[in-house]
Amino acid sequence: MTQTTPPPQASESQQYYERHIFFCLNDRDGGQECCARHAAQEAFDHCKAQVKAAGLAGAGKVRVNKAGCLDRCAAGPVAVVYPEAVWYTYIDKSDIEEIVESHLKHGKVVERLVTPLHLGR
Ligand code: FES
Repeated sequence: MTQTTPPPQASESQQYYERHIFFCLNDRDGGQECCARHAAQEAFDHCKAQVKAAGLAGAGKVRVNKAGCLDRCAAGPVAVVYPEAVWYTYIDKSDIEEIVESHLKHGKVVERLVTPLHLGR
């Protein structure tokens, strides 16, 4: 009988960042739907500034990253927060501020902005 060793799991203390948010900034040619057409770059910049201003940026805290297409273009503009794997569809800067304050700072999901599960590409 062969025994298998379970894969290592990162405990909370092993996480380099407490939370990591990725913004799709993808721009599609030919007028196709994409996050870049919905001010994704401005939202990303605003999120980075808000996280920094709140003192949340850095190791053990929060990281804000650019991403290419996350393959949920029909729901765009989208961002996803890990480790919870919560997807958001935002509209404006106030939505970004709410995600920063509620989810990134306090770990509370902003339910009203959660991307509907059926929306993909
Ligand atoms: S262009 Fe943003 S998810 Fe595809």
